[in-house]
Amino acid sequence: MSQVTIESILQEKRLFPPSAEFSQSAHIKSLAEYQQICARAQADPQKFWAELAEQELHWFQKWTTVLDWQPPFAKWFEGGKINISYNCLDRHLATWRKNKAALIWEGEPGDSRTLTYAQLHREVCQMANVLKQLGVQKGDRVGIYLPMIPEAAIAMLACARIGAAHTVVFGGFSAEALRDRLVDGQAKLVITADGGWRKDTAVPLKAQVDKALADGSVPTVKDVLVVRRTAQQIQMEPGRDHWWHDLQQGVSANCPAEPMDSEDLLFILYTSGSTGKPKGVVHTTAGYNLYTHITTKWIFDLQDTDVYWCTADIGWITGHSYIVYGPLSNGATTLMYEGAPRPSNPGCMWDVIEKHGVNIFYTAPTAIRAFIKMGEHLPNARNLSSLRLLGTVGEPINPEAWMWYYRIIGGERCPIVDTWWQTETGGIMVTPLPGAIATKPGSATLPFPGIIADVVDLEGNNVPANEGGYLAVRHPWPGMMRTVFGDPDRFRRTYWEHIPPKDGQYTYFAGDGARRDEDGYFWVMGRVDDVINVAGHRLGTMEIESALVSHPAVAEAAVVGKPDDLKGEEIVAFVTLEGTFDPSEELNKELKKHVVQEIGAIARPGEIRFTEALPKTRSGKIMRRLLRSLASGQEVSGDTSTLEDRSVLDKLREGT
Ligand code: WT7
Repeated sequence: MSQVTIESILQEKRLFPPSAEFSQSAHIKSLAEYQQICARAQADPQKFWAELAEQELHWFQKWTTVLDWQPPFAKWFEGGKINISYNCLDRHLATWRKNKAALIWEGEPGDSRTLTYAQLHREVCQMANVLKQLGVQKGDRVGIYLPMIPEAAIAMLACARIGAAHTVVFGGFSAEALRDRLVDGQAKLVITADGGWRKDTAVPLKAQVDKALADGSVPTVKDVLVVRRTAQQIQMEPGRDHWWHDLQQGVSANCPAEPMDSEDLLFILYTSGSTGKPKGVVHTTAGYNLYTHITTKWIFDLQDTDVYWCTADIGWITGHSYIVYGPLSNGATTLMYEGAPRPSNPGCMWDVIEKHGVNIFYTAPTAIRAFIKMGEHLPNARNLSSLRLLGTVGEPINPEAWMWYYRIIGGERCPIVDTWWQTETGGIMVTPLPGAIATKPGSATLPFPGIIADVVDLEGNNVPANEGGYLAVRHPWPGMMRTVFGDPDRFRRTYWEHIPPKDGQYTYFAGDGARRDEDGYFWVMGRVDDVINVAGHRLGTMEIESALVSHPAVAEAAVVGKPDDLKGEEIVAFVTLEGTFDPSEELNKELKKHVVQEIGAIARPGEIRFTEALPKTRSGKIMRRLLRSLASGQEVSGDTSTLEDRSVLDKLREGT
C-alpha cells in the first residue's frame, strides 16, 4: 500500500459515475442539478442559505439579518431564535418519527440499546433538568468526558437544550489534557462515566477526572455527574460527585427547549494547531444546525428508512456533526458503536452492519487500511448487502484503499463520498454528492453547494489546474467556526492572515495543500503546517514537543511525521538530553510513556531518536524539513545553506 503521492494521483484517471438507480432516488440527482444549485448559491449566497434555513429548520422566531460579515467575524441569522435540541428531537415527535429509532447503540461487551425519538427526548429532558438542579445555567460550559454510550449524545443534547455550551473531551485524552481543556473553557460541571470499554478492557474515566480536578486545579468545576458503565471501583467525592442514575430517579421529563439566539455559543471543541496550546474552536447555534443538517441530508443522501453509521468518536467533530446533530436534525436513525476491531473480534464492524442492516457507513482511511490488513475473508463472510453508500473522512485516502473499500465493502454498487473538512469548518466542505458527482479514487471531488473553495498561492491567486497550492475558502458559510475561544486574535492570525484579502474578499486558509485537476476536482495532499495526522487524529508537533520537554531528561525536542502504511503518519521525535542524562532504551520507553501521560495514547511517538543537536537555521529555527526527510529515510534534499552547523546533519545521518 502506498501513500498518496502527486505521482499516484496524477495517474489516477478512473471515473465512477453513480448508477442510474442510485441517482433516481437521490436528493440531488444529476451533475446538472448540482451545478444549478451551485449557480443559485453563488448568485445570491444569502438568499440560498436563508431559503434552506426556512425550509429545513424550526425557528421560534425568524432572523432579521442573514449574514453580518465583519471579516473574519461572521454572524448568521441574527435576530433569530432557535434550539438545536428542539430541531433534533421535539419537532420529530409530532410526526410518524415519534417511535422511530433515533439512536441504535451497540455496546461492549455485547450490550445494545435502541432509543426512539420519544425515548431519547425523554432522557435528554431528564438530564437537562438534572443539570439545572445542579445549578447549570444558560451560558455556562459543561465538560463531557464519556465513552461511546448513549449518554454522550444525551449529554450534548441536554446541554444544548438549556443553552449551556458543551466541551467534549475525547475519552482517550489524559487527565492533563482534560484539565487544560476544562480550565480554558471554564467548565462548571463535568459529565463522565466510571469507565469505558476499549478493546477488551475497562479503562478508567472517573479516576482521570479526579486527577484533572485534584487540588482545585479547575476552580470553576463545582459538580461531576457520573454515568455507571463498567461498574469498576471509583471514589465519589461527597458534595461534588453525583451518580446520574440516582439523580435521574423521579426527575421530570418535561423541559422545554430554551429559545437561543442564533449566535449563542453551542459548543467548544479543542483541536491542535501549530502552537503548543490546543485551540478552542467555537461553534454557534443556528448556522451550525443548518450546515450540519443540509450536508448530512445531501451528502449521505438520507432516506427515511436508512440506518446510518458513522464510526467516529463523539470526542471529535465528526462525532458531533455526523453522529449526533446532523442525523438527528434530519430525523434519521443514527448508530453508535462502542467497540473496535481487535484480535478477539476482528470482524466486529461487519457484524454490526449485518445485525442492523446498516445502509450508510462512514469511516476513516486509516480504519479501511486496517480492515485490508485483517483480510477480506472477514467482510466476505458477512452479508453486507444492506449497504448503499460509503463515506470516508480524516485524511487523504490512497486509491488502493479506495478501490478495496469500493469492491469488498461496497460490492461495486455503493458510491463513496470522500469528504474533506475540519473541526473549524463545522461540516463537510468538499465532497461528492453521491447521486450527482462521478467519483475518482483519492479525490474529494467538488465543493458543497454554497462553498467557494479554491486552490491558491500565498498571494491568493488561483493556481492553474494540476499545480499544487493551498486549500482556501472565499466566502463565509453558516457552519464556519466563529472564533478561538477567548482568543479572537489567534483566530484571525491562524486562518485569515496567511492569504491577503483580494478585492476586499477575505480568504480562509485551511492549512492543507491541494491541487485541482482538469475537471476541477480537488486532491487534498495533507497539512502544510506543523500538524500531523496520525490515524485520522490531528496532533500539533509543538504539543508533543512541549510534552517531551516537560520531562526532566529532555533539553530539546523536535517532532515530525513520517509516512506510515496504516496510520497515514507516524510520530518521530528527535530529542537532545540534559547533560546528566544518557540515551538508553529505558529512557526511550519512559519518554514515550511520558507523552502518553501528558496528552494521551494517540500521541505516543512511534520512534524517539536521541541526538546531540538539532539542525537549526542561524536564527535558531529548527529545520523540520530536514528532519522529515531523515525520519522517512529519504535523501536530505533542497537548500541546506541556512543550516547553522552542517556537522549536525552528518551526525544525524549517522544516527548519533
Ligand atoms: C484535517 C482536519 C473533520 C473531519 C475529521 C478531521 C484532514 C480531513 C480529509 C479528506 C484529505 C482530510 C485535513 C484537514 N482531512 N478530511 N477527506 N481528505 N484530508 O478533523 O481533526 O479537524 O482535521 O484532516 O488535513 O485539515 P480535524
